Amino acid sequence: MVPHTAAKHELLKTYLDRWFPILGLDFRGQPGRINYIDGFAGPGEYDRGEIGSPQIAIQSALAHVQSGNLLPNVEINFIFVESKPEFARNLAEKLSQLQVPSHFKVKVIQGEFADVVGSILDDIQARGGALAPTFAFVDPFGFSGIPFELMQRILSHRKCEVYINIMVEFINRFLQHPDEDVVAHFPRTFGTDEVLEIPLQAGDRVRAILELYKRQLSLPAKYVGRFDMHGRKDQHTYSLFFASNHPRGFQKMKEAHWKVDKANGGKFS
Ligand SMILES: C[S@@+](CC[C@H](N)C(=O)[O-])C[C@H]1O[C@@H](n2cnc3c(N)ncnc32)[C@H](O)[C@@H]1O
Repeated sequence: MVPHTAAKHELLKTYLDRWFPILGLDFRGQPGRINYIDGFAGPGEYDRGEIGSPQIAIQSALAHVQSGNLLPNVEINFIFVESKPEFARNLAEKLSQLQVPSHFKVKVIQGEFADVVGSILDDIQARGGALAPTFAFVDPFGFSGIPFELMQRILSHRKCEVYINIMVEFINRFLQHPDEDVVAHFPRTFGTDEVLEIPLQAGDRVRAILELYKRQLSLPAKYVGRFDMHGRKDQHTYSLFFASNHPRGFQKMKEAHWKVDKANGGKFS
């Protein structure tokens, strides 16, 4: 596992360690439900047996059950979406080995994040319902399959937040790709054609890409934070954007950022 993946997992774990008890205790003994969605779940393990993001989330929730902060009145829907059939199978097998309480509903869905979560939201909309409080972790490898419209739809529901990996180095490299089909992904990912103007402008392109994505997320979310991941030779590889409408969630994510980057609270290199 590369060091910035370990840092990404530490950020996720640190935030979830704060998020689960806040939402879990929010129901004050009444029946309730929360959703944890991992839209690009992966195979559930890395080369040296390190666990993937799905187990990190389940382990965080389990620790809160043990400490009494997640009571059986709150059902937790864990929805793990993975497009590769063999990865989805492997993940389902790994997760089936975990001992979880009956109020944890763990589902691995083989499919595309945008289709799976889009149809969950369509069903809710058709019933005139609302999405239960949700944390959606969106961790693609690349820049397609993460339509901005979907982030907007998730964020339009109360107590729903997204944590998105924007692979800025890739995006910068591919923005001027000669194949129109490749370039056509960008307006969908950013929710605006303005992204196509970035290569035509003078100045720092990476900065312009990140500022545009932040501006877009600020339309549906009051609070938007960013954590930058740098690779070898300190090149800026990707940024994790957190978007929420809740000051407390934002404060907790900032705490997670400061825990991983004690100097500046926003970068791992
Ligand atoms: C960066 S990895 C995820 C790593 C995982 N979140 C973790 O931290 O352990 C991205 C995963 O998304 C899967 N994937 C690619 N496109 C997808 C899509 N459109 N919908 C769902 N999964 C997808 C890939 O097969 C890959 O396993």
